[in-house]
Amino acid sequence: MRIDPNGPGDTPEVQQMVVIHKALRRQFALMPDQVLAVADGDRTRAALVADHARSQLLFLHAHHHSEDEVLWPLLVRRTPLERDLIQEMETQHGAVDAGITKLTPLIAAWADRADRATAVEIAAELTALTDHLVAHLDAEEAKIFPLVLEHLSVAEWESVVEEGPRQMPSSPRIGMVTIGVVLDAASPAEAAWFHDNLPAKAKIAWRLLGRSYYRRYSAKLTTAG
Ligand SMILES: [Fe+2]
Repeated sequence: MRIDPNGPGDTPEVQQMVVIHKALRRQFALMPDQVLAVADGDRTRAALVADHARSQLLFLHAHHHSEDEVLWPLLVRRTPLERDLIQEMETQHGAVDAGITKLTPLIAAWADRADRATAVEIAAELTALTDHLVAHLDAEEAKIFPLVLEHLSVAEWESVVEEGPRQMPSSPRIGMVTIGVVLDAASPAEAAWFHDNLPAKAKIAWRLLGRSYYRRYSAKLTTAG
């Protein structure tokens, strides 16, 4: 299934990756305020928000890792003259990875202590990481997608899109949260495509438990303070 059934079936549908980018853009824009809204010493709420931040860092890492593993090598082979552009993408991934590396221990410490100073530090790091991320996603959509359209087959593109979920940890809970954040940011046609492409087991889990779990999870997360 494709998002746009009327689109050219013999060309990669790059909008499929935009669906993931939209979820990342939305969640990373929300997180600094979610962290700052936790009252000093509220360990229950800090644990919840920290847990969400960790799941989104894993989601981001998995997405980038799938590009590092599958997309860049394919493009380097097909378009050797674009090596500098691929290098630019790798450098941008490196900046995002550095942010993830800084944030991981800070989030772990804050989940325990819920102290204000660490919350402020995390919010600043998340904001810096989000700036790098948004610049990278913009550049990828503007400069890499045209190369994908020109040089990759539909099957090759699908191998890129399918690699992301493979890079995620095998935690049913994180799986359900990831499905939820993607569907939250997607248009109806994008949501229908994403849901249709889920493995059969994940579809059943989402229908039976995931959807209601994510609704409660998301409501708790957006309740200020
Ligand atoms: Fe991407």
